[in-house]
Amino acid sequence: MTTDRPMLEIKKLSKSFPGVRALHEVDLTAYPGEIHALLGENGAGKSTLLKTLFGVQQPDSGEVWFEGERRSFSQPSDALHAGLAMVHQELSLVPQFTAVQNVVLGREKARAGFIDWREARERAEKSLGRLGFDARMDIPVRRLSVAQQQLVEIARALAVGARLIILDEPTASLTTQESEQLFALLERLRAEGRGIIYVSHRLAEVMALSDRVTVLRDGTLVGTRTRAEIKNETDLVKLMVGRNVDAISRVERSEGPGEEILRIEGLSSAEGVADCSLSVRRGEIVGLAGMVGAGRTELVRGLIGADRVTGGAVWIRGERVHIGSPADAVKAGIAFLPEDRKHQGLVLHMSAASNATLIKPPRRRGLLDRRAQREQTRALLTQLNADIDPGYPVGKLSGGTQQKVVLARWLKTASDIFIFDEPTRGVDVGAKGEIHALIRELAEEGKAIVMVSSDLPEVIGMSDRVVVMRRGRIVAELSRSQISEEAIVHHAAAS
Ligand SMILES: Nc1ncnc2c1ncn2[C@@H]1O[C@H](COP(=O)(O)OP(=O)(O)OP(=O)(O)O)[C@@H](O)[C@H]1O
Ligand SMILES: [Mg+2]
Repeated sequence: MTTDRPMLEIKKLSKSFPGVRALHEVDLTAYPGEIHALLGENGAGKSTLLKTLFGVQQPDSGEVWFEGERRSFSQPSDALHAGLAMVHQELSLVPQFTAVQNVVLGREKARAGFIDWREARERAEKSLGRLGFDARMDIPVRRLSVAQQQLVEIARALAVGARLIILDEPTASLTTQESEQLFALLERLRAEGRGIIYVSHRLAEVMALSDRVTVLRDGTLVGTRTRAEIKNETDLVKLMVGRNVDAISRVERSEGPGEEILRIEGLSSAEGVADCSLSVRRGEIVGLAGMVGAGRTELVRGLIGADRVTGGAVWIRGERVHIGSPADAVKAGIAFLPEDRKHQGLVLHMSAASNATLIKPPRRRGLLDRRAQREQTRALLTQLNADIDPGYPVGKLSGGTQQKVVLARWLKTASDIFIFDEPTRGVDVGAKGEIHALIRELAEEGKAIVMVSSDLPEVIGMSDRVVVMRRGRIVAELSRSQISEEAIVHHAAAS
């Protein structure tokens, strides 16, 4: 951290949406050469603050000063011109363009005028290379991993000369290893004197990386602290939620697992899953670990009939089943919480209550019972640390709250098999504990559970057994006593 003049000063910024005060007179100061973390529970206003700063949304009142000048960005391209860049959680690349085209495009947008394509391309290649981009630069970016796409976004930001880089939950869908690569990069950008503001729910990483931390709670500023003022993660949690929250700890369950509920044999799919066999017993939590892109999501998508299966068979409670579509999977008693809430799980214009009760809406005399629907939803969401109006459209909830709605939906079904894909991605610390408790409760009730997770402490803390995947195959199975971070990383990364 430096003693320079602030690069960015946000003064008394306020922003309301109908019925919600998302930000109330929030201040934030960022310096060049500083990594500044923005923390808060789901719905605290973090994304709104960053979007308002970047010109995606307009503030109701307040001021933004950047490099000594009062600014108000009416759209993101204005912010880009001024030297700010934002890496959104939903990446904003042009999916059918290559990495190089995306970088060049960003720069041309920022400059306008005559383009020397050859020179532009060479510079783009160079800057991608410098960032450690090791994938192909000549294929559409949609075929790259999230981590690689992020690098393209950062390269694009640097190509337009960004001095302040804003990242909203950049590590949410990265593995530990990919996150570490990103951190090394952020540290380099810091050393070059750039300012970095980023949002994360992963407190260990905040502790390791940040120079200062700003915490929001319910749209108001709790405070800004330097790294030196924070002793440990517990301090951060207290600032965020105003109370203590327990870390994940392994719980010995009263009974061992029961009979086999789900059996997969030799499953292969068009999406690269190759000859995977897996068995899950009653009351058991099986963790599915591996790097992003190892085929974990594809395996469960094959199982539930979301991807085309090219071989293999599935048994449920000893009976051979044919699952040709996600609807078949629901009928067969499989509850599936997808990884990508926005696109696979939610009807954005519908209310939280309708979304949460989508599978089995409560009925009275054959008609939809709206009151029961609202009450059920409210109860579940309160349990998940989200006190929201169940009638609110889901598309307007914060990222983490949307996730809780999808989770609430499945907790009410009578399924025997629960498949969670990254169940706590993007949810705040308080809710994370609640979700873990709920998953454990389901296991106690005798459900068979498969949990895909890139969060190693979560996999280690929650699983009775860990199955590791690599390149579409199952490469290791670790029993409870064999589960360790080293073992998982070793199998996930070995080549
Ligand atoms: N476009 C919108 N319309 C209406 N309300 C909104 C809109 N965007 C955000 N909100 C509301 O503003 C509040 C703050 O949301 P925001 O997305 O900033 O939270 P967040 O801190 O980023 O949370 P998360 O950690 O879950 O991403 C929430 O109550 C949310 O429902
Ligand atoms: Mg957010």
